[in-house]
Amino acid sequence: MKRRILVTGGTGYIGSHTVVELQNEGYEVVIVDNLSNSQANVVDHIEQITGIRPCFEEVDCCDYNKLEAVFQKYPHIEGVIHFAASKAVGESVEKPLLYYKNNLVSLINILELMPKYKVKGIIFSSSCTVYGQPDILPVTEKAPIKVAESPYGNTKQVNEEIVQDFVKSGAPVSAILLRYFNPIGAHPTALIGELPNGVPQNLIPFLTQTAIGIREKLSVFGNDYDTPDGSCIRDYIYVVDLAKAHVIAMNRILADKQKEKVEVFNLGTGRGLSVLELINAFETSTGVKLNYQIVGRRAGDIVKVWANPTHANEELGWRADTPIEEVLRSAWKWQEHLRETGVM
Ligand code: UD1
Repeated sequence: MKRRILVTGGTGYIGSHTVVELQNEGYEVVIVDNLSNSQANVVDHIEQITGIRPCFEEVDCCDYNKLEAVFQKYPHIEGVIHFAASKAVGESVEKPLLYYKNNLVSLINILELMPKYKVKGIIFSSSCTVYGQPDILPVTEKAPIKVAESPYGNTKQVNEEIVQDFVKSGAPVSAILLRYFNPIGAHPTALIGELPNGVPQNLIPFLTQTAIGIREKLSVFGNDYDTPDGSCIRDYIYVVDLAKAHVIAMNRILADKQKEKVEVFNLGTGRGLSVLELINAFETSTGVKLNYQIVGRRAGDIVKVWANPTHANEELGWRADTPIEEVLRSAWKWQEHLRETGVM
């Protein structure tokens, strides 16, 4: 019998790529998603890629009773990967209670249900945002957690603590906290990818929408930072590489290979790229010219952050090594696919 995994937020950007990799590895997946920031037809696209249709339940994880009904309908769930969360930094500043409610209550509900249904472990989607602007680069898991810049960032910190405290209390649950750097790109089939609602806030969707003519110009937020070319530096990681790390982490939990009941891993490439370097890499790898202009800094931006991924490389035997050119071509192919299929 296939081992059953619950993926919350499984029709979302990182979630959908992870469902594909879990199915490729032989897991049976149950997706729970309230479709607040994704489309139901993502399930069809996952089926097109893998030949397997994941189970799908349109449920909000904040609804305890409906979530419990999922555990009853699908017995013997062995692990949970919890992606479902609100993630727009700016919106979280305007609507902090919405963010605290969505992101905290959903996690608490899942944790409460896990022992009741004998679920062994949880993988939680965290973020490098917990490090703020690190004092030492590249940043390791031992770097101090900084005061959060936004309610969104704070929900990641608090949720990490909730998981830690729950496990510490003796709950029969183990956990892996994965701190993502900047996930980008799309599945090589271009059947799934990032599809933000409205005007994109993140760099890559804005960039590809500009390249295809939906937006007039990409604004580069600042070129007077303390970096070699003055623009901000991030660690851009291919979403498929990131998805594969979740499968490895789930294998590790289910095979009792963890060294501690809560483990933390940075998931990044170990390489920092500036906004201007990224634009240049996009132009050279796709042959598409990008209309952009330098504008003022964006409030709250971290100047530079990139991962030391040694812990994940060594402990998980995982590496994010897809070349950036290939990653950017996948993002472009996805944008072209959206055009061809009339989505945007
Ligand atoms: C932000 C959050 C991060 C969150 C992620 C997902 C902060 C500090 N970090 O990451 O916690 O997990 O979003 O939503 O808020 N840029 C431009 N022009 C644009 C858009 C972006 O120049 O139109 C630049 C930004 O200044 C930044 C880089 O591109 O230097 C990446 O920005 P973005 O994709 O928004 O990600 P982060 O800010 O790193």
